[in-house]
Amino acid sequence: MQYRNLLVEIKDTTAIVTFNRPAVLNAMNTETVTELGEAIAALGENSQVRVIILTGTGKAFIAGADIAEMSIKTPAQARAYSELGHRVMNTIQNLKKPVIAAVNGYALGGGIEVALSCDICIASELAKFGLPETILGVIPGWGATQRAARLIGTAQTKELVFTGELIDARKACEIGLINRVVPHEQLMDAVMMLAQKIGEQSPLALSMAKKIIHEGLDKSLLEGCRMETEVFSSLFDSQDQKEGMKAFLEKRKPQFSGR
Ligand code: HXC
Repeated sequence: MQYRNLLVEIKDTTAIVTFNRPAVLNAMNTETVTELGEAIAALGENSQVRVIILTGTGKAFIAGADIAEMSIKTPAQARAYSELGHRVMNTIQNLKKPVIAAVNGYALGGGIEVALSCDICIASELAKFGLPETILGVIPGWGATQRAARLIGTAQTKELVFTGELIDARKACEIGLINRVVPHEQLMDAVMMLAQKIGEQSPLALSMAKKIIHEGLDKSLLEGCRMETEVFSSLFDSQDQKEGMKAFLEKRKPQFSGR
């Protein structure tokens, strides 16, 4: 499928979605957010694809929502824009496949929010993160106040939101916002290797693990552990469980069907 603001490439079992509006540092206008939702949904349905990587062209991952487009919105239009973004971030979060953010440069405002909706975030040492919305007279609108607070805690989230200051990739890693920092020129190789490793696992087990890790955040520890037992035991009805354990015993690589 062709998009105006995204490049989509499939290599083996990994899809790479690249934000491609370099003249505005990949700022996301309505069209880009809509296209992202469509691309993720299509890749979710594509049986060849096991892992999705999001990255950006040029010196930015995403420099946020498009301020020029946003500046003239009415409250009703701003609500629709926020709701659209939430739907797309939720599509990424609820996708049955792992999604990795490969943050190559600026991840600001909506850019952090896209990264936060991904499962794993790997950043170049040149990447910069920030939530600079309050200097624009607004607050984050695609989930950062909620997802960042759950991931890094309220104190770190408040500091980012209240100051709008940019932090480098090492600091982002130190506060738990991202998984790992790598040398800039090694970013895509490191992320592709990670995607390949994840792509070798049972797709069914991955999707169930992703689902219950998220759902468990809204439950007590006891309820979460019960849910884990339910899912663990239900997987013994699957072809992937039979194939995975048989392959181990036969000392060969498993061939998973995802069922
Ligand atoms: C529109 C943007 C943009 C943005 C950059 N540009 N970010 N346009 N929306 N978010 C444009 C600039 O206007 C400029 O266009 C070109 O990209 C290059 O940017 P420069 O500022 O010249 O580059 P540089 O000096 O390197 O500074 C980089 C930067 C700065 C620090 C990233 O561009 C910046 O602060 N951008 C805004 C970041 C931001 O506030 N993001 C949060 C947005 S609110 P010209 O035409 O001059 O070349 C948000 C809310 C999400 O994300 C929720 C919505 C519901």
